[in-house]
Amino acid sequence: MAPNPAPIAVALDAPDIETAARWASLVTPHVSTVKVGLELYLRYGPDVVASVRGASRVQVFLDLKLHDIPATVAGAARAVARLRPAYLTVHAAGGASMIRAAAEAAPDTTIAAVTVLTSLADADLDAVGLGGPALDATRRLALLAVAAGARAVVCSPHEVSAVRSEVGPDITLITPGVRPAGSSAEDQARIATPEEAVAAGADLLVIGRPITGAADPGAAAAAVAAALRRTAGVVR
Ligand code: C5P
Repeated sequence: MAPNPAPIAVALDAPDIETAARWASLVTPHVSTVKVGLELYLRYGPDVVASVRGASRVQVFLDLKLHDIPATVAGAARAVARLRPAYLTVHAAGGASMIRAAAEAAPDTTIAAVTVLTSLADADLDAVGLGGPALDATRRLALLAVAAGARAVVCSPHEVSAVRSEVGPDITLITPGVRPAGSSAEDQARIATPEEAVAAGADLLVIGRPITGAADPGAAAAAVAAALRRTAGVVR
């Protein structure tokens, strides 16, 4: 019997729908989730979800990072809820009412709150009026989002343990910026290996180019899954 799929969301940041569907079919035997981002969704619309799902039972993570007034976000969440995504992202900075509106509009979907974008340094945060260390803003936003009904939080692997202590054990912590040992960092600055991210308390690892950019994405996904499995108790 095939082992349980690993808690990995493969970021399908593909130039076209055919490539995204091909990557998805190669990785779905090994991972729990595939992630569709803004570029693919805005280019192809809802059809992209069916294409990447194919005949598999893989979970779909819709990374649309919604951020608008509560009524608009509720409408958007309702519109995509019929696609039955497992996860839908919203910006925690949209505030408690907005997050609550999303959670109520898509009750069968886990609303995942994006805290502070990892692309923002402390100076950038100052410039947008979020002074102080990024970690303080991350903790504050995580707490606010969970109190408003988010059941998952997106943060960097370096923030996982601090966020965990704010939100408790029942919230799914999702981390991008994950790089298997030996792979290139590309534009990710604060990275961790999959084993380090899980050891810090992450529940779902977002990994893109180290898998999709490999000559054989299926083999690359299987290798990361196997490495996690060797870390006792990781793959449930
Ligand atoms: O290719 P790579 O592994 O860097 O892909 C990471 C994915 O996670 C991309 O889809 C990127 O948009 C997303 N992401 C991120 N950092 C965040 C939030 C999302 O890298 N803070």
